[in-house]
Amino acid sequence: MALRSILRTILLLVVFLCILDANVALPIKIFNVINYGAVADGKTDNTQAFGETWKDACEYHGRSRVMVPYGTFVLRSITFVGYCNGSIAFVIKGILKAPTDPVGFANNTWIGFRYVNDLTLKGGGYLDGQGAAAWHYNDCSKNSHCSALPVTLRFDFVTNSKVHHLRSINSKNAHVNLFACYNMSISQLNLLAPRDSPNTDGIHIGNSARINISRSIIKTGDDCIAMVSGSRDIDISDIWCGPGHGISIGSLGRGPQRENVNRISVRNCSFVGTQNGLRIKTWAPSLYSLASDMSFKDIIMQDVQNPIFIDQNYCPYPPCGHQGKLRSSSVEIRNITLNNIRGTSSTKAAVKINCSGSVPCKDIVLRDIDLTYNVGHIKLAATSNCSNVFGSTYGIQNPPSCL
Ligand SMILES: *[C@@H]1O[C@H](CO)[C@@H](O)[C@H](O)[C@H]1NC(C)=O
Ligand SMILES: *[C@@H]1O[C@H](CO)[C@@H](O)[C@H](O)[C@H]1NC(C)=O
Ligand SMILES: *[C@@H]1O[C@H](CO)[C@@H](O)[C@H](O)[C@H]1NC(C)=O
Ligand SMILES: *[C@@H]1O[C@H](CO)[C@@H](O)[C@H](O)[C@H]1NC(C)=O
Ligand SMILES: *[C@@H]1O[C@H](CO)[C@@H](O)[C@H](O)[C@H]1NC(C)=O
Ligand SMILES: *[C@@H]1O[C@H](CO)[C@@H](O)[C@H](O)[C@H]1NC(C)=O
Ligand SMILES: *[C@@H]1O[C@H](CO)[C@@H](O)[C@H](O)[C@H]1NC(C)=O
Ligand SMILES: *[C@@H]1O[C@H](CO)[C@@H](O)[C@H](O)[C@H]1NC(C)=O
Repeated sequence: MALRSILRTILLLVVFLCILDANVALPIKIFNVINYGAVADGKTDNTQAFGETWKDACEYHGRSRVMVPYGTFVLRSITFVGYCNGSIAFVIKGILKAPTDPVGFANNTWIGFRYVNDLTLKGGGYLDGQGAAAWHYNDCSKNSHCSALPVTLRFDFVTNSKVHHLRSINSKNAHVNLFACYNMSISQLNLLAPRDSPNTDGIHIGNSARINISRSIIKTGDDCIAMVSGSRDIDISDIWCGPGHGISIGSLGRGPQRENVNRISVRNCSFVGTQNGLRIKTWAPSLYSLASDMSFKDIIMQDVQNPIFIDQNYCPYPPCGHQGKLRSSSVEIRNITLNNIRGTSSTKAAVKINCSGSVPCKDIVLRDIDLTYNVGHIKLAATSNCSNVFGSTYGIQNPPSCL
């Protein structure tokens, strides 16, 4: 009798566990673009097929997976809009190819994701922006429509999501752009464009928080990673940057509103042959804004033009009105730590901290800085140059600190 009741209990338990398991591991439903008419022939326009695939995947109550198999798919401008009824994985195994003609892209976007929560974008595939024909439009000093060129991957209002194992080549504008995103993890990206391709930022972030970027290779024509107004709690690690313009905060202070950037960590990164290493740039004059609480640690520089560069007189298109104290930048730069920055500079002035006369930089900490000025294979002493900076130094200071 006792045995029977024990057996019955075990049986009930097994049945219960099976039900529980079925709930935990919800089946993944696959939505393959091929089943929606996509053709991987490198010619057919697949925009409608991709749009219909997304619509069904987004409607599905549960875990859905949009599948782009191997092959070359031509895709025009498209924005995948949520919110969806479940989590979505978007798996790109093949090559997506943009039209070469830079006009006719909606929302300044080639491939966009908007209002999506719990998205995983991955697959090891390529996004080929075919930028070469567009780059001559992109010289902002000659062409006022330059910023209208499409970004390869645009995320607007995307939350709790992951992007990994993807390659983007020859973007027309930035490779990846984040706006109003929260809690995203970005890793193992390979972003590639020629050294002289204009405005091809690797990853451009604005108004976004809790973003992690790691284990990526960025070789491009503009900033490897740029963080502008409203970037907070950004964690960057294990990045190879070069060629490119380095990792930049700003430019800040040009707009009519406050433009704050706070709590940025950059760790274990390499800069090779870049224009800048670590840069903070603010316009002058400007409204009050705050750039604070940043840590740059364990960084290797190799033949970098401006390894450490804080520039509060940023002015890419002269003439600029920053002569005199009243016209200086009002962006406050505070609590910036640079720790263990080593390697070579391709110019003599390896450390330049040029702050505002009206709002000086405060709590700038330089710890273990070891940068030499290399001309060919000859090592010369580098210099550091500060104006309006308050802070402290610890450990090795090569060049001798200007603080
Ligand atoms: C979510 O599901 C509901 C009910 O099935 C449907 O009406 C709605 O369109 C779905 N939402 C999306 C974004 O597809
Ligand atoms: C532009 O973005 C909106 C969402 O804001 C979207 O509905 C529309 O489809 C997009 N256009 C294209 C061509 O992707
Ligand atoms: C962040 O997103 C991940 C999914 O990528 C999720 O597992 C995690 O719970 C989210 N964290 C917060 C604080 O919402
Ligand atoms: C980002 O990195 C930090 C520190 O490495 C970690 O604590 C956090 O969980 C990560 N967040 C995401 C969204 O991956
Ligand atoms: C630092 O980054 C390199 C790639 O640039 C990576 O191979 C290495 O594992 C990282 N080291 C640590 C301690 O994270
Ligand atoms: C300075 O910034 C670091 C992050 O880099 C932060 O942990 C620390 O609390 C900040 N210090 C002050 C006094 O705000
Ligand atoms: C700082 O910038 C101002 C304005 O561009 C310039 O006149 C000055 O020489 C710079 N100082 C240093 C130390 O580079
Ligand atoms: C610092 O910059 C100023 C202005 O550009 C320049 O006159 C001065 O020689 C520089 N000092 C060093 C040590 O490089």
